Amino acid sequence: MSSVQSMSSDAIAGQRDAFIEKFLQSAAGAFSMFSIYIGDRLGLYRALAEGGPATSAELAARTGTHERYIREWLEQQTVAGILRVENENHGSDIRRFHIPPGHVEPLIECSSLNYVAPLAQLLIGAVHPLPAVLNAYRNGGGVSFDEYGADLREGQAAINYPAFWHQLPEEWLPRILDIHARLQADPPARVADIGCGYGWSSLGIARGYPKVHVDGFDLDAPSIERAKENAKRNRLAERVHFEVRDAGDPSLAGQYDLVTAFECVHDMTDPVGALQTMHRLVKEDGTVLIVDERVGDAFTAQGNDVEWMMYGWSILHCLPVGMTDHNAVGTGTVMRADTLRNYASEAGFRHVEILPIEHFFFRFYRLTP
Ligand SMILES: C[S@@+](CC[C@H](N)C(=O)[O-])C[C@H]1O[C@@H](n2cnc3c(N)ncnc32)[C@H](O)[C@@H]1O
Repeated sequence: MSSVQSMSSDAIAGQRDAFIEKFLQSAAGAFSMFSIYIGDRLGLYRALAEGGPATSAELAARTGTHERYIREWLEQQTVAGILRVENENHGSDIRRFHIPPGHVEPLIECSSLNYVAPLAQLLIGAVHPLPAVLNAYRNGGGVSFDEYGADLREGQAAINYPAFWHQLPEEWLPRILDIHARLQADPPARVADIGCGYGWSSLGIARGYPKVHVDGFDLDAPSIERAKENAKRNRLAERVHFEVRDAGDPSLAGQYDLVTAFECVHDMTDPVGALQTMHRLVKEDGTVLIVDERVGDAFTAQGNDVEWMMYGWSILHCLPVGMTDHNAVGTGTVMRADTLRNYASEAGFRHVEILPIEHFFFRFYRLTP
């Protein structure tokens, strides 16, 4: 007898009600994400944090927005537990809204490791080409990274910026003693950063190690454009160069001391080809460092919070972008350690080591050529 047949009608009703409760909470949570996107993009949180508590009219005036919309948004934010209200029983001309102190860092402090607001922008980006995604589910094929648009690119760069700018050079690389020593030594080390997006990992390494030269490569031209601007703005353009290149390009070769790939191998249509390139790029005594998602070693029904989130990105974005070639392997966000080990071995690496660096959603792999 199956578990469904063995359930009493009371048990089924209990299960149904628990499911509906979770479903409704998720729907409200989705609205919170969309509302955070509005508050972030229109500068509403920043205006409240910097200008202090405001009525809807004051906030609209501060941000050049329409009072009626702002009033609705402020009330929604309060009910959602994101903002707080003073004088709640008075009219809207007296009711003032503010950001609780503990919500400021997650919502507006863009260089803080606790800055999570870009997740809302990433989510909006991930659903941007939904009709094309549905088409891919029906007919196979993929959806190009470009179709996800600016919100996906910007959200991705913003969510990783604090870690790449601070933790990467200040905590993660210093934990890998030989790499740390080589990046400080002469002759100046050369680093290649594959799938660099807006370039924050390349720039973070150059910021932390003032001798090194970094070449960042990405297939996406708008991302490379922004990476070049970021290099100039941070006065690192002399030592950090960016170029539009496909990681699978067989002509990509070099003699680099360190070759890195942050959160991108699982997005690639041909991860083995990309790893072969990384193998060609690295010196015999150099290091390849892959930073990808911290998922479990195997699929289990209960999963965990990280996998719940990673499968979400996968069904909407990472799997579709990884399916755009007819030969694509279709890895998806939930790239397990064994999957990477198999790719690395096919690409000619002798060994894959998981480094003992703790992070909520990243895992650090060191590949030996
Ligand atoms: C999820 S984003 C990660 C960007 C950046 N490394 C980060 O962690 O913020 C994945 C990146 O991989 C790039 N990418 C995907 N396939 C690529 C390929 N074959 N060659 C070079 N870049 C590629 C995409 O254009 C995109 O910028």
